[in-house]
Amino acid sequence: MLNRRIAEILRSSQPDESLLVQGWVRTKRELKGFAFIEINDGSSLANLQVVINEDVPDYETTIKNLNTGAAVEVAGVLVASQGKGQRIELKAEKLKVYGEADPETYPLQKKRHSFEFLRTIGHLRSRTNSFGAVFRVRNACSAAIHQFFQERGFLWVHTPIITASDCEGAGELFSVTSLDLKNIPRTDNQAIDYSQDFFGKPTYLTVSGQLEAEVMAMAFGNVYTFGPTFRAENSNTSRHLAEFWMVEPEMAFCNLEEDMDLAEAFLKYIFEYVLVKCPEDMEFFNQRIDNSVLATAENIINNQFERLTYTDAIKLLEKADVKFDYPVSWGLDLQSEHERYLAEQLFKKPVIVTDYPAQIKAFYMRLSDDEKTVRAMDILAPKIGEIIGGSQREERLDVLERRVISQGMKPEDLWWYLDLRRYGTVPHAGFGLGFERLVQFMTGMGNIRDVIPFPRTPQNAEF
Ligand code: 4AD
Ligand code: MG
Repeated sequence: MLNRRIAEILRSSQPDESLLVQGWVRTKRELKGFAFIEINDGSSLANLQVVINEDVPDYETTIKNLNTGAAVEVAGVLVASQGKGQRIELKAEKLKVYGEADPETYPLQKKRHSFEFLRTIGHLRSRTNSFGAVFRVRNACSAAIHQFFQERGFLWVHTPIITASDCEGAGELFSVTSLDLKNIPRTDNQAIDYSQDFFGKPTYLTVSGQLEAEVMAMAFGNVYTFGPTFRAENSNTSRHLAEFWMVEPEMAFCNLEEDMDLAEAFLKYIFEYVLVKCPEDMEFFNQRIDNSVLATAENIINNQFERLTYTDAIKLLEKADVKFDYPVSWGLDLQSEHERYLAEQLFKKPVIVTDYPAQIKAFYMRLSDDEKTVRAMDILAPKIGEIIGGSQREERLDVLERRVISQGMKPEDLWWYLDLRRYGTVPHAGFGLGFERLVQFMTGMGNIRDVIPFPRTPQNAEF
């Protein structure tokens, strides 16, 4: 007998096929002489309807135990469904209840629960329609990312999670240590004696794999890294996580224009891929979460992103007839309200802002001839704000050394990174896509905590 996934059965199976199905009960309806249950195995939004006649062995006890949440295995034959809403249903011949779920205490009863409540049962929420759809789309986004880069000959490289450098220079680092916090070794002048720590020096969870991706790009040309990154920023917003996933391509022999072209093609590709792979889930988001999700996807795929310089963006923001909470003036960073105004209200599509002031951007970005701006680019998305941050990198040793020093970092700590400019340096560029922000943008989910299975945020590391 075949053990098949429900998505595939609903898509292509025909009446008279004998099947074995395993999953969790979503609903049960008892009628006179028979019962219906709906089973979900996570493979699709839609459930498989199972009809159980009272002549199956142990009917009474089985039905009593088949409550919402129970794990079940059903062997049976597919039949054309008499009822509305499904093409086929499974006529049970044999049932096995693996794990029961007490209807008095199982938290996921058949009603709508708020996302806030569902966050408190993070170990069970994936069994709901919304989270099923989110995590299937998240999976499709990951697959699209790999397919996009693999088709283009990029090498997937694994950059370290533990590092001794602060790539973004923002100081938002989680320390990694094996020192005994109750008995910290000290040097003569009372500083922490890191020579006794595991790595013999201070180490952190990485904020970005970029610096190591640059190393690999200097050997393989085009590479990408896709992994978890960590930021100890105390931002309690709907778009910040302390642990999030980032996709970072890095290309040798590449300038900022080519970097932007790749980023735009990349986003379009992922949207197209997900629309093809997860049409049912995307329809669900459009109906239940945000009724602009499908229109947004079409808009992304079919329109060129707007490109403008930071200087022009500031002029537009100064002219805007809305009142912002944060000030706008040349030299200040854009806040998310500014980013959203540009993408959501003004251009109504993604906007790529380039050439930011050097003082507000990281040390590795290439300084322009004006000496005031760097060759940076941020892609701003409607509703989300910044979704991608990237730049052409500073490939000139002397300029890079100056920038490292002026940002209060020590060139000797970055000796290997500077070596890349000593030996075979070349113009290169890359970007980082915040993976959860992408999934938010794709699904219309309002809170970033609801697009990652196990969100890590200030004061919260449950599950
Ligand atoms: O703009 P960021 O800080 O850029 C970098 O880390 C570069 N090293 C990337 C590169 O050029 N290789 O971060 C990149 C993206 C942001 O645009 C945003 O989408 C996301 O990462 N991001 C976050 N997502 C969730 N929670 C946070 N706390 C995030 N911080 C940044
Ligand atoms: Mg950024």
